[in-house]
Amino acid sequence: MRQYQYLNEYADFMLEDPELTSYLYFPIANENGVMASVTPSLHGDNKMGQNTFLLAPVSAEELHTSKASRNFWFDVEGRKPWSVVGNSSDQQANLFQEEKEKTYLRAGVMWQEVERISETYGLTAKVLSLVPASGETVELMRVTIQNIGSDNITFTPIVAIPLYARSADNYRDHRHVTSLLHRIHTTEYGVIVNPTLTFDERGHKKNEVIYGVFGSTGESNPPVSFYPTVEDFIGEGGSFEQPRALYAKDTVPVLAGETMAGYEVLGGLVFEKLTLRVGEERTYLVAMGYGNSEENFKKEAFKFLSSKAFEDILLYTKNYWNQKINIHYHTGNQDFDHFMHWVNFQPMLRRIYGCSFLPHHDYGKGGRGWRDLWQDCLALLMMNPSGVRGMLQDNFSGIRMDGTNATIIGAKQGEFIADRNNITRVWMDHGVWPLFTTDLYIKHSGDLNFLLVEATYFKDMQAVRGEEKDTQYNDGLGKRVRTVEGEEYQGTILEHLLLQNLTAFYDVGEHNHIRLRGADWNDALDMAKERGESVAFTAAYALNLTTLAQLLEKLEESGVTSILLAKEMELLFTEDITCYSDIKRKKEILYTYCKQVKETVSGHKEEVLVSDLVCNLKNKSEWIKEHIRSEEWLTNAEGFHWFNGYYDNHGQRVEGDFAQGVRMMLTSQVFTIMSGVATKDQVKDVIRAADHYLYEAKMGGYRLNTDFGEVKLDLGRMFGFAYGQKENGAVFCHMAIMYSNALYQRGFAKEGYHVIDSLFKHCNNFDVSRIYPGIPEYIGENGRGLYHYLTGSASWLLLTVLTEMFGIKGRLGDLYFEPKLLLEQFRQDGTAKVEFIFADKSFEVTYQNSKKMDVTEYQVAGIILDGMHYKSQDLACIRRSDILELSDHQKHFITIILS
Ligand code: G1P
Repeated sequence: MRQYQYLNEYADFMLEDPELTSYLYFPIANENGVMASVTPSLHGDNKMGQNTFLLAPVSAEELHTSKASRNFWFDVEGRKPWSVVGNSSDQQANLFQEEKEKTYLRAGVMWQEVERISETYGLTAKVLSLVPASGETVELMRVTIQNIGSDNITFTPIVAIPLYARSADNYRDHRHVTSLLHRIHTTEYGVIVNPTLTFDERGHKKNEVIYGVFGSTGESNPPVSFYPTVEDFIGEGGSFEQPRALYAKDTVPVLAGETMAGYEVLGGLVFEKLTLRVGEERTYLVAMGYGNSEENFKKEAFKFLSSKAFEDILLYTKNYWNQKINIHYHTGNQDFDHFMHWVNFQPMLRRIYGCSFLPHHDYGKGGRGWRDLWQDCLALLMMNPSGVRGMLQDNFSGIRMDGTNATIIGAKQGEFIADRNNITRVWMDHGVWPLFTTDLYIKHSGDLNFLLVEATYFKDMQAVRGEEKDTQYNDGLGKRVRTVEGEEYQGTILEHLLLQNLTAFYDVGEHNHIRLRGADWNDALDMAKERGESVAFTAAYALNLTTLAQLLEKLEESGVTSILLAKEMELLFTEDITCYSDIKRKKEILYTYCKQVKETVSGHKEEVLVSDLVCNLKNKSEWIKEHIRSEEWLTNAEGFHWFNGYYDNHGQRVEGDFAQGVRMMLTSQVFTIMSGVATKDQVKDVIRAADHYLYEAKMGGYRLNTDFGEVKLDLGRMFGFAYGQKENGAVFCHMAIMYSNALYQRGFAKEGYHVIDSLFKHCNNFDVSRIYPGIPEYIGENGRGLYHYLTGSASWLLLTVLTEMFGIKGRLGDLYFEPKLLLEQFRQDGTAKVEFIFADKSFEVTYQNSKKMDVTEYQVAGIILDGMHYKSQDLACIRRSDILELSDHQKHFITIILS
């Protein structure tokens, strides 16, 4: 059995023979835009954006089909050249033989080291890769070579890194012609390429980016000569794994100060020939990257061309990231605690890489989607609460007056880009997420007044929930909603939230559930635009209407008895409950409202009593809940019960018994459970059905759906995917974890834990999951984890483990403890610990379960805060006022007595 081992509290890990597993890649990046992926054999790419790739872009397949890598050769006298990353045809030929060189991968957050031992050569080499956290636009490599044999060895070290140096758009289109743009020269320390122009979606433009590879010995001595072009290095008939320059030796490297133009570039650096005596060690350093001028690149790269500088930046980078991960667990299962360290790190990766810039994420040109933006904030709220208020406020400016939102999200916070194409896609779930995140923010901060803060609205030509165009729209006016007088219109955050959820309430299809439109959370349910309905997310909106009502009640308690709302919204608060069942009337209300705000708004506001609003929202929520309960509860021939969650484009119910088999979807259950649509008894029935139809031990848990046995063109492209992959019946971690979250919330701790534990155990079993520690987007039919690192499931797992499993909850700013840890999760001494940040203070909470009771038996019996018994009316709560008095500069220790 192949397994990785954790090495320390920062969850650094070690894996033997890593190159014997395919599709492995590791992220190394910084917050200044450098994004790289690196494999055990140093394949992978490096880029700063769609148009700025230093190393050629790779999808998961190119990790093994491409021979381009960050290669480093030792041309050993009297023998064939040896690649320290295993990329020579001879090493490749021995991969599955006895003679295979032993390799070990060690990695920690944002650094990777691969060690290779060759008994035949008597050499061992370690290659350490990182991107400096201090923000320089370079990737660094340190190669340490040691003579472990019994004879002195003479060799010439050679760096060979092909530089792509252009836009991903030219990977196929204009690949050759764009090499003609390259102006290449050799300098004392390396190879620089300065493409004259860029050819990409922006047109033909003057290029502004310099690319280069510099190198030195550990003592900062420069290379002695260079191979600056691919053609000269690989030679006629050669390849990156058998370069003619090294194997046939019929090409002479050039010296510094040479120029050439119009070729594919190689960062080919030749160091001085050297004899390494028995036991001796040498270090070589490489810096590859970007600059806005040659001087700028030189400056960035030179900083790291000494052994001391490299060691310093390695330490700095390790500390930087490990300090950012400020949530830690200490349970009875250390592997779980370590696994969670990586999960907690993953949301940071998604902020850097977006959804597209690692090899599996080949579905875009960068950026993140609307729901990803809000869900990633969940994790941020937990780890870095102080910057979140501004970020949330800025994000609200992406909402349109018709309740939909901008779907093209800019690089800067709060930047949304107008959709000038005719691609009108409205995802019906988008209105759900902002309130989930805002509610969590208010729970943790007590900042109810945030609801009354004002924000602008987004404007582009899309109007009436994607059904009409505002032909008057002028992009030059700043993408903001304006009043008839031309003033920028602002409304409160509360108004934004009400708009999103109320417009959804009226946007119903023929079964009086909210229309599916372009898709819901499941992006691949995209073929039922006309008649599709998502009952699943209708339930989520019902939950939101209740949450809004509760927030308003709190506002009222705090003395706010009335609020101002856009006059046009009056229509959405109709008191006539009979119209809720009247589909035609609902559509009319929505259409009339949307027409009024299609181009501009009046700018007039109406005063509304908070108590009236509360009542109105509760009525709407209850109506939806009752409607779903009475219409969508299924019982099938085998005696199982669950909720139907969808209608297809023929207006037909999607779940239940069908000729092709039983059809059940997990999403439908998650939101009916989370929203309280499902009664306690119904939750039990759903669990039984999910365990029967969706649970798959070999895939680590609950599949997203059963096999529909049909390419269901009237519902979505997901049915075109092979069953068991991605959105078609894989264990899609994001939804599986939301299922767990819903179960915990409804008091089903054992069942919620079972979901997470199954997933964890599967991921942690490298033999089947074949991924490094962390949670992937999904587990496929053969058990492999795919789309590792950049997934919303990490945010949800972090949230669920902290707030549900460990029960660290905010209640209007108070810190509340509601642990739902199972007995098996406590350590031998009956304790379980969690470290986290709350109200910008650092805490370590120890749950003391001395009587070894299970989750159904214990409750919080007392709190000891920094050594003193803490007294409050509510036994399980520390008041915000007391938290604010605690010192900022030290960690606070809390013991929670369970009995
Ligand atoms: C991805 C997308 C997410 C979408 C989901 C299902 O999930 O990023 O927005 O809802 O697919 O289609 P993720 O990779 O975040 O787990």
